[in-house]
Amino acid sequence: MLIHIYFFCRISRSVLTLYPLYKIGCTIINRRNGVFNLAKVYVFDHPLIQHKLTYIREVQTGTKEFRELVDEVATLMAFEITRDMPLEEIEIETPVTRAKSKVLSGKKLGIIPILRAGIGMVDGILKLIPAAKVGHIGLYRDPKTLKPVEYYVKLPSDVEERDFIVVDPMLATGGSAIEAINSLKTRGGKHIKFMCLIAAPEGVEALKEAHPDVDIYIAALDEKLNEKGYIVPGLGDAGDRLFGTK
Ligand code: PRP
Ligand code: URA
Repeated sequence: MLIHIYFFCRISRSVLTLYPLYKIGCTIINRRNGVFNLAKVYVFDHPLIQHKLTYIREVQTGTKEFRELVDEVATLMAFEITRDMPLEEIEIETPVTRAKSKVLSGKKLGIIPILRAGIGMVDGILKLIPAAKVGHIGLYRDPKTLKPVEYYVKLPSDVEERDFIVVDPMLATGGSAIEAINSLKTRGGKHIKFMCLIAAPEGVEALKEAHPDVDIYIAALDEKLNEKGYIVPGLGDAGDRLFGTK
């Protein structure tokens, strides 16, 4: 039965219709690797991530604590997202003997925060991958149309040789993530993952549709968008909460 649910999840294209199903499917898949899988959408359910996310959402949480928690969750998510990094075997000498042991095989990584709020996740990822290069894509969401407006792009010079993680705490309508990934691909980016704290089903669906080659990593999949395009229950305006504006 669970195998059938898992198989159904993998072949279906709609997150919206499957929302109740992935909860059922999560237990088996979760035992395997700490995340559960809905096609190319991974929702993290690690207790530490969920605990910290609760306080990130909480309206009473002030800027300092909000920033620290976003940083911590980004580190925890980076630990999972790098699970498929390639390894190679080298020979080393321990105090006891010579031995074969594994190291990362030198794959080049780039982190691309979507400005502003994506900046809050960068240091948390760099703690685990200090050699990664950081590019920036500046977008803001027009409050009336909710469409993204690009105002800045600066990427590592060797874009074509790197694997990228595009980061933003919020995936709401999906417009900003889609536009940022368009921008990265136009400049030669090929192997791209997208990582966010909170997503709305509408944004996940739009991003999957626009960029089916991009795996999406989410700490929590929320219920819906409200009439102003905010995620419900969400955390409010991520940029304002992170930088203390408004
Ligand atoms: C927020 C958030 C995302 C975007 C998500 O940024 O950080 O980038 O909204 O919404 P979408 O999925 O509907 O595009 P915002 O536009 O508020 O800019 P800011 O980070 O500069 O505050
Ligand atoms: N951007 C945010 O910062 N929060 C939302 O809920 C939606 C878009």
